[in-house]
Amino acid sequence: MEEKFCPMSFTRRIVQDGREILSNVIYSQVKTHTPYGGVVPELASREHLLKIRPIVDQALSDADRTLDDIDGIAATSGPGLIGSLLVGLTYAKALAFAKNKPLAAVNHIEGHIYSVSFEHPGAEFPALALVVSGGHTNLFWVESESGGFRHLKYKLVGKTRDDAAGEAYDKVAKLIGLPYPGGPVIDRLARTGNRAAIPFSMAKITDGSLDFSFSGIKTAVLRMVKENERLKEDPLRLDLCASFQEAVVNMLWSTTLKAADRLQPRSIMLSGGVAANSRLRDVFRERSAESGLKLYYPEPILTTDNAAMIAAAGAAKLMRGETASLDVNADPNLRLAVSDRPLPNRRWKI
Ligand code: KG4
Ligand code: ZN
Repeated sequence: MEEKFCPMSFTRRIVQDGREILSNVIYSQVKTHTPYGGVVPELASREHLLKIRPIVDQALSDADRTLDDIDGIAATSGPGLIGSLLVGLTYAKALAFAKNKPLAAVNHIEGHIYSVSFEHPGAEFPALALVVSGGHTNLFWVESESGGFRHLKYKLVGKTRDDAAGEAYDKVAKLIGLPYPGGPVIDRLARTGNRAAIPFSMAKITDGSLDFSFSGIKTAVLRMVKENERLKEDPLRLDLCASFQEAVVNMLWSTTLKAADRLQPRSIMLSGGVAANSRLRDVFRERSAESGLKLYYPEPILTTDNAAMIAAAGAAKLMRGETASLDVNADPNLRLAVSDRPLPNRRWKI
């Protein structure tokens, strides 16, 4: 199969060779959903439907390409909101059929892991990949069959037992009167707050697993603001943001470090929308350097959902010959295909 791929993800981006981003068109729906304090699934799929065609056209024209120049088409098949998934996947299938191009059906989480590949194509495997988003907080052991990003195999070694980290950010933001999505707003406000003002206790996972838990801290915030309404106003709110963020970041780092101690990866990869967080990036950068661990994360624009990452994962699939059939279905609960290889350190049951 031809090595050089110019796949197109279903909405916004054209990627050459799975690496170089030729165009970058993002239509954000944040304004539509903000008044409701979260994503409204029906509005999301309606907007996808309205925007998908003009945005694909714009992505092509920005890249100075036509559909005939594209080697393959990638779309997310899950997990996610079924209405939005269906719009993207169906549009991609129609394009693939009409233009006789190969189709790649990509897992959203795998896409996040591939977001690291643009700036760090030579990142070392096996890696520990922490994916922190609004819907997931997952820690994967990632092995490469090819040495690079071409063919990865995954093993889930830790996950959240309740809320995802981004979900905790968004819920806490709502509790203290901040708009959706709360993550970036808390990140900004936390810069002027005191991280040590409120000593949140870390969720204790005592069974030796590498899981996370964020619902306790959210409930703690709920209780605090009920007892003291002034926490909803600055300057106390700034301290609350900084302290909450510190607790979340510490929890993410301490479990990742625990996993790295056990499994001895050659690198750590941080991705997902929450990986845009400035404090998370700083803490992971400083502490991984102290621990002698190599760390990779994407530039902020590639951390939150984007089509470049889907195209990168899709390009790898197509280069391996993993073409999806035109009757592939969207699956809101799609799981990442899991490797059946044992973990390097068999003493740890996961
Ligand atoms: O990956 P993503 O774009 O969508 C999902 O797959 O869920 O992640 C969105 C999540 C939201 O919860 C949002 O609040 C959070 O990422 N997020 C952040 C930041 N930017 C986005 N959380 C903390 N700090 C940020 N700077
Ligand atoms: Zn995502």
